Amino acid sequence: MSRAVQPASSGRARFTLDPAFRVGTVDPRLFGSFVEHLGRCVYTGLYEPGHPSADANGLRTDVLDLVRELGVTVIRYPGGNFVSGYRWEDSVGPVEERPRRLDPAWRSTETNRFGLSEFMGFLRELGGPAEPMMAVNLGTRGVEDALRLQEYANHPSGTALSDLRRAHGDKEPFGIRLWCLGNEMDGPWQTGHKTAEEYGRLAAETARAMRQLDPDVQLVACGSSGRAMPTFAAWEATVLAETYDLVDYVSLHAYYEELDGDRDSFLASAVDMETFIDAVVATCDHIGARLKSPKKINLSFDEWNVWYQSRTETQAGSLDWPEAPRLLEDNYTVTDAVVLGSLLIALLRHADRVTVACLAQLVNVIAPILTEPGGPAWRQTTFFPFAQASRHGRGEVLDVRVAAPTYPTAKYGDVPLLHATAVRADDGTVTVFAVNRDQARPLPLEVALHGLELSRIAEHTALADADPDARNTLAAPDRVTPHPVTGTTLADGTLTAVLEPLSWNVIRLA
Ligand code: AHR
Repeated sequence: MSRAVQPASSGRARFTLDPAFRVGTVDPRLFGSFVEHLGRCVYTGLYEPGHPSADANGLRTDVLDLVRELGVTVIRYPGGNFVSGYRWEDSVGPVEERPRRLDPAWRSTETNRFGLSEFMGFLRELGGPAEPMMAVNLGTRGVEDALRLQEYANHPSGTALSDLRRAHGDKEPFGIRLWCLGNEMDGPWQTGHKTAEEYGRLAAETARAMRQLDPDVQLVACGSSGRAMPTFAAWEATVLAETYDLVDYVSLHAYYEELDGDRDSFLASAVDMETFIDAVVATCDHIGARLKSPKKINLSFDEWNVWYQSRTETQAGSLDWPEAPRLLEDNYTVTDAVVLGSLLIALLRHADRVTVACLAQLVNVIAPILTEPGGPAWRQTTFFPFAQASRHGRGEVLDVRVAAPTYPTAKYGDVPLLHATAVRADDGTVTVFAVNRDQARPLPLEVALHGLELSRIAEHTALADADPDARNTLAAPDRVTPHPVTGTTLADGTLTAVLEPLSWNVIRLA
């Protein structure tokens, strides 16, 4: 699609940073991910006994290394649509006794060779701060099953289920704090799909019971599976009216793709994400106001990514019930990575209310990491913005009000060419994350720094390429990586940079 850059007042993008004007503190849980029993996320993704890099537990150490580098802080498990038919007890105990089951969500055979205990072992093996975010099945199951799973996972000992866990070899309780009350229950594709009234009641009953076992659990109620759902916002209002005092979060899910060659709109996907967040915050606060509650419900954006969903629809129709088929294995381009960076910027810009977020998913399935069975693991283009944001996006988000030239988009009208945020770390360093949405032209940027003791550019890197469709593949796993940018200056309280066309930028000021 052709488009002309409107000559803004100066053709340059500007904003001001001042530590007096802040959005909020970044919750480390903003850099979460998601492992679902779907395709090859688990099997031949993170778990592949017999692989040259596998450890004694069958975990691929090449993948573990990449997950560490990615910097994920919380991992949602085991679904996704999969959880709505999940029988957790099939996934624990001696591996050779575990049943094979049909997974209706993805029309696959689940072998249960990897289960709850193996997932907790995977988190332990990561050795970092990644915590579990466990979903309970509110599709085919309900309150009793959630309680049984909670007792098995978290009770120290002395009851049938906690002693069963110990007999299975896990002497210490798993200590799972964060729980999802089902998954996308508004979606007609969901096994056990419900109306808002039905789900609201079930979520409230389950939450109340889980709190009876442990008042400190943190609970996520299902919001809509997308802003385009016909019941969006009404669903949230009905569910929260039932659950407001019982849950801590409401979930949001959003996936973006380039459709019909409309790259301009695709590059502006974060406009939709920010509108979505604002609408859910308004809905939460409306219910809070109606209930005269001082409590605020936070947002768990626990599925977000670029996903070429229109291609997936042709993949999932088989009734052959394969084991770990290749599903949703999108191979991301530079353009996809720039959009993903922009989505990260959107999340950071709302860090006051979005306090959990999970990039869906972690390995192979719409993921930043790809693997070959018996072969290597490598970083997709989208790996880099996530890893950089997780590493440098910790601290206080500063309030960034951009003045920038705009460009016309079919979906979102006129959109600023610059999308940006900035995070101030505890040591005073500031990192600017910025996307230039202009596909053809560099964008000059000027940032006025007020009240910040910053004297030098520590680093400016960009992810951009002469070929916006360049990807990392098995044959060329390092084709795309961020590169250093020269010429960025900091003088007289002004940062001056030029952002390459269609680029994701990380500028660190020390
Ligand atoms: O992440 C892939 C799928 O997208 C999840 O299983 C589901 O929750 C969503 O629709």
